[in-house]
Amino acid sequence: MTKKVYIETYGCQMNVADSEVIASILKANGFEMVDNINDAGLILINTCSIRENAEQRIWRRLKAISHLKRKNRNIVIGLTGCMAERLKEKVLEEERIVDIVAGPDSYRDLPLLVSEAETGHKAVNVLLSHEETYADISPVRLDRNGVTSFVSIMRGCNNMCAYCVVPYVRGAERSRDPETILHEAEELFSSGYREVTLLGQNVDSYRHTKNGLSTGFPELLEKVAGINPLMRVRFSTSHPKDISDDLIKTISKHHNICKHIHLPAQSGSNRILKLMNREYTREWYMDRVSRIREYISDCSISTDMITGFCTETEEDHQASLSLMEWAGFDFAYMFMYSERPGTRASRKYSDNIPVEIKARRLNEIISLQNKLSAISKKNDVGKTFEVLIEGYSKRSSGYLSGRTSQNKVVVFPRREEKKGEYVNVQIEKCTSATLTGKVV
Ligand code: SAH
Ligand code: SF4
Ligand code: F3S
Repeated sequence: MTKKVYIETYGCQMNVADSEVIASILKANGFEMVDNINDAGLILINTCSIRENAEQRIWRRLKAISHLKRKNRNIVIGLTGCMAERLKEKVLEEERIVDIVAGPDSYRDLPLLVSEAETGHKAVNVLLSHEETYADISPVRLDRNGVTSFVSIMRGCNNMCAYCVVPYVRGAERSRDPETILHEAEELFSSGYREVTLLGQNVDSYRHTKNGLSTGFPELLEKVAGINPLMRVRFSTSHPKDISDDLIKTISKHHNICKHIHLPAQSGSNRILKLMNREYTREWYMDRVSRIREYISDCSISTDMITGFCTETEEDHQASLSLMEWAGFDFAYMFMYSERPGTRASRKYSDNIPVEIKARRLNEIISLQNKLSAISKKNDVGKTFEVLIEGYSKRSSGYLSGRTSQNKVVVFPRREEKKGEYVNVQIEKCTSATLTGKVV
């Protein structure tokens, strides 16, 4: 029974990729994946700690599935990922239905942890590693659109952004052997995939050295793009302090490197950026955006923004709004600051912005971004874009859906085209989330 595994994933793309590594390790040990939680003997929840509400969601989920355990005491429940790492054994005190706690660097140990749990013991491995990149593991794809996939190129993070829990739960930064990355991307291409997104917390600092041979991110990107012109390459996330001219030029040179850069600004105020320890200024950020626009005229740029960080004034908040307006972001993820225990901000500063103010500022940046996103989409009307088809539109099977190089979703009436193919679509209309058009 324990051999049937159900995996539920929360958090970022990195966790999605990790769930595929977990699935691969378990499959190699005789486990089988199931889609329905009620069929599972082993339930793994791959967790996120980035904001307090991310963790609360997982506690609620554990409560909601506790009846499964009451019905069948042999079911094994495991918490993997960032929250497992952050809370360690404390998870077991908080929630008695949990049998296994496994941090992000312990997944090779999961088969053993499961055996231990089967004998009725609680099993914990939260050791972080300086080397583990799961380089040799071929992830089992759980996404199933069969066209786009993530490939992890590094793990951990060496930046110490004052608000962020990632360095504590994911450990030190390490880069994966480029040969294994290329091999994985080639395999994806030969099994029909047409797009890979290279993942790291700060891809610009990717560097791998073997036998005196050193590979940086622009080179890696170029190599992956070289697999086949029909294979699109994306990447996430770029750090404004590290994104180089060399990288921007590399993107501009290759048709199949997508013209979209996710470049989280977090704030537009120099004072707040300094407190956040982001190691760049507003002016530096603007220079990077200008450089992108100079080399890649059709590049879309997206961002992450945080409102209500410690001591943020109205003036700081206005600086965030004006930076967004200046940059004209195509898309943004926006959050209220959430204090995370153990981070520099929690140790050194007081979380002194009342939640009502954080929320009001968040609403203001969301409505500005809605306006900017609408402008960005309106500018596409009338133009023709190459679209990689990912499948049927959610709305109706008479329509297909895909994305442009700029990462915008396009929906269009279906004819003979199939997923995994490229088509040129002329944009006729835009709604708040999508562009619609016709194949030309
Ligand atoms: N490595 C990426 C981001 C990873 S976390 C980078 O440096 O850009 C994703 C986003 O979550 C961050 O960009 C930030 O905007 C947000 N975030 C991180 N910690 C947060 C916190 N404590 N409160 C609110 N938002 C946070
Ligand atoms: Fe967190 Fe900063 Fe690292 Fe991104 S770069 S994961 S925000 S510490
Ligand atoms: Fe990702 Fe959440 Fe961990 S954002 S790295 S899953 S804390």
